[in-house]
Amino acid sequence: MSAESTANATSMDAIVALAKRRGFIFQSSEIYGGFNGFFDYGPVGAELKKNIRDCWWADMVRRREDIVGIETSIIMHPKVWEASGHVAGFTDPLVDCKVSKQRFRADQLFFAAVVVNDQSIGYVSSLESVDTTATLQGMAESLKRRKAIQGVLAPIVAKDFTEATAEEIPLIPSPATGEPGSLTAPRGFNMMFQTNVGAMTDGSSVAYLRPETAQGMFVDFKNVVDTGRVKLPFGIAQIGKSFRNEITPRNFIFRSREFEQMEMEYFISEDADWATAHREWIEWCKHWLLSIGLPAALLSEYDHPKAKLAFYSKGTTDIMFQYPFGVQELWGIAARGNYDLTQHATASGKSMEYFDEASKKKFVPHVIEPAVGVDRIFLAVLCAGYAEEEIKDEKGNVEKRTVLRLSPRIAPVKVAVLPLLKNKEALVGRARDLYKKLQRRYAVFYDEAGAIGRRYRRQDEIGTPWCVTIDFETIEKDGTFTLRERDSMQQRRITETELFALLEDAVY
Ligand code: GLY
Repeated sequence: MSAESTANATSMDAIVALAKRRGFIFQSSEIYGGFNGFFDYGPVGAELKKNIRDCWWADMVRRREDIVGIETSIIMHPKVWEASGHVAGFTDPLVDCKVSKQRFRADQLFFAAVVVNDQSIGYVSSLESVDTTATLQGMAESLKRRKAIQGVLAPIVAKDFTEATAEEIPLIPSPATGEPGSLTAPRGFNMMFQTNVGAMTDGSSVAYLRPETAQGMFVDFKNVVDTGRVKLPFGIAQIGKSFRNEITPRNFIFRSREFEQMEMEYFISEDADWATAHREWIEWCKHWLLSIGLPAALLSEYDHPKAKLAFYSKGTTDIMFQYPFGVQELWGIAARGNYDLTQHATASGKSMEYFDEASKKKFVPHVIEPAVGVDRIFLAVLCAGYAEEEIKDEKGNVEKRTVLRLSPRIAPVKVAVLPLLKNKEALVGRARDLYKKLQRRYAVFYDEAGAIGRRYRRQDEIGTPWCVTIDFETIEKDGTFTLRERDSMQQRRITETELFALLEDAVY
């Protein structure tokens, strides 16, 4: 067989369809109509997600001498979120449409004045899309036609609703109704989910589902220093679920209300060169993304403008990924000074100072924070790995194959074991033996149902890097198997020892 074309991830529709069809991702509570912003991971999805977590944990924690891992509670003392600034400031600017009762995030609602012959003839608005400016330009042209106004339409200048002046707000149409006059000025909406702890449901029992895992590392800083045999510079890492009441969850699992984070706080001396440490972590994160198979060509960097940083922040750089819906943040690497530890020291009355043996100085360490979402990485590897190909079989017949090019490090199934025929006891017995042996160390799949080509195709769709076929040569000649490689579709003979060596090398 030979591949004629290798289109990259095309549309989100194709990704969502594959995710459902092959059991990667389901809508949460689907039999009840789904629940917006929540998702379930199916059998192969749960494996892929676990592999992403395990690779990160292995590289970030186990293979480093300077980083330890912890696991903190999802519901923490409410004072944590006061000290961190989340109670007061973890808000999204929201706009209400008084007619439709719909709510929009102001920074996702775009508008533009429609100017003909230097005169404003009205406003157009649209929710953010892959090309918002082109959408608004098209709407401006329609408005001009509808109003039958002659003249030259100026190119529109799209702004988001946070930039709308008090005079402009009543003139901007609601995206829900298309009519002006119903949108309110933006106001802050706290994104933390509230709950009540204990039997009371009054204000005294209010607690929050954590909106980030990071605060767990700051709150436990002293405990780790006192028990963990750590010395600056060192890191504390955590993987866990976080929750944000997003107004407009969207782009599949990219922005959901329940998600999983992998965060690490790397503490450095107050005298350390933070810019160098920051750059080293950006490079580490990029290198790690390449190690799990993301192509460098789809990655880029974005430095947050100094003017938009919080007052304590020294710098934030995002590693961006080119999703089908646009270039978006994947991994944020923030240099946060010693703001977080200082806030908790003040609010709790407990010292967060570290005694440095070398300099004999006491200080509150500074921190570099690389924070990434497991679900965003999951979506990135699906999008980067997805391809539809036209392939030719030995007879020259063209057929379509969908293939998911996942790195062996994270592929849900590392190898599929296939007896050539299911009604030949000797083939099946040998295949089951190999399957059981491989299963002790790797996620493997046994499949005897259907034509061999169809079985290969099923594995291609879930990203299995290799298929091993037990055929007559295996049982009648030298014991070797046919190894079929997912990406090249090349086949070669391989011994059991070579198969284990191949896996040992690729799955780490
Ligand atoms: N701690 C940073 C974040 O949650 O994005």
